[in-house]
Amino acid sequence: MLDLTNIRNEFPMLKKNNLVYFDNAATTFKPYKVINAVMDYYENCSVNVHRGDYDLSFQVSNQFDQAREAVAKYLNATSKEIVFTSGASSSLNLVAYGYGQKYLKEGDVILSTEAEHASNILPWFKVSEVTKAKIEYIPLNEEGILSIENFKKAMHDKVKVVTLAQVSNVLGHKVPMKEICKIAHSYGAVVVVDGAQSVPHLKMDVQDLDIDFLAFSAHKMCGPTGVGVLYGKYDLLQATDPFLLGGGSNARFDICGNILLKNAPYKFEAGTPAIEGVLGLKAAVEYLMDIGMEHIEEYEKELNQYFVEKLRPLEHVVIYNPSGTCGIVTFNVKGIFAQDVASYLSSKGFAIRAGNHCAKILIDVIQASETLRASVYFYNTKEEIDAFIQALSEITLEKCIAVVI
Ligand SMILES: Cc1ncc(COP(=O)(O)O)c(C=O)c1O
Repeated sequence: MLDLTNIRNEFPMLKKNNLVYFDNAATTFKPYKVINAVMDYYENCSVNVHRGDYDLSFQVSNQFDQAREAVAKYLNATSKEIVFTSGASSSLNLVAYGYGQKYLKEGDVILSTEAEHASNILPWFKVSEVTKAKIEYIPLNEEGILSIENFKKAMHDKVKVVTLAQVSNVLGHKVPMKEICKIAHSYGAVVVVDGAQSVPHLKMDVQDLDIDFLAFSAHKMCGPTGVGVLYGKYDLLQATDPFLLGGGSNARFDICGNILLKNAPYKFEAGTPAIEGVLGLKAAVEYLMDIGMEHIEEYEKELNQYFVEKLRPLEHVVIYNPSGTCGIVTFNVKGIFAQDVASYLSSKGFAIRAGNHCAKILIDVIQASETLRASVYFYNTKEEIDAFIQALSEITLEKCIAVVI
């Protein structure tokens, strides 16, 4: 059971604004603990890491290294398997170019789904173009759910990379990742997981799931923007090429152009990192672990069910993912353009997202070019959902037009 009063007091955005925020799949609010960690860096120890021979630099470098350990603990990984990046998009690009482009060749297959976010499919389009490896899609059912049966049917000997989101950012369905990894590995394929919408919400154990690569962003889990993580099994990271080179990532180089790279994770972290971001991410994972990811997961499931239960009786609403469990509810109001509904709701103090949510291939699967997405996090309440449902039940085309014009 979460102590919601306490939790809500820890988020300045929840105290100051008269706003019901249901756009957590886009980004989340930050608690004081994270804000203070970022400010502390700028106010008290604003020096570079791993470069200076003075106490303050050692001190900040130490905190930076502890951040890697904290993230490793959050995932049940080891710290040498944690690469800091600028976010999920950057992590996914790193795997595609550093691993996919290096090892895939004509005749190989990259297996994915039609529900992927642009950040987990566009880099693979590029890999396919360069290597001539083919992209195939695992069929989803009419609710956009990926079943193990369909995955088994889609797997074959030529599949070398399976790349998919653990939780879809449009429909919020969770894929059976442990079984997927087991089956993919039995064919010798590597599994790349887009964890942008799962790592902030679920208790993660990369060893138990046996994931090969996992990408996610700090800002979707109470952390700062501009920082993210690529987890990779150490041998795979060692086998992956960096796609950025520069200071901090090499052990030696000479005038003939010979470069000796450092070992993972350092070979991927060329240049000065987002130090305040990494320290903020450390504060965020510690904050989430203090609450307990199993409590967060359970509460969000409860909120999701409550949301759907309240939405279902509204006859003018179509729900696309009534069986979702991960805090994302996707719907439309019959006869009103999604963007106009979102603008109307904004005028009533509710923030939700309208559009295709960067998953442009999914449009054909769910037969809707634009949808509304309400996404909750553990600081949202049932009272906020009640207020939202009330506003939605009063919506009419005329009211929307009045707001939009
Ligand atoms: C499923 C999924 N993958 C990747 C991303 C990209 O994350 P970022 O913009 O933080 O790089 C997002 C962002 O919305 C997402 O929802």
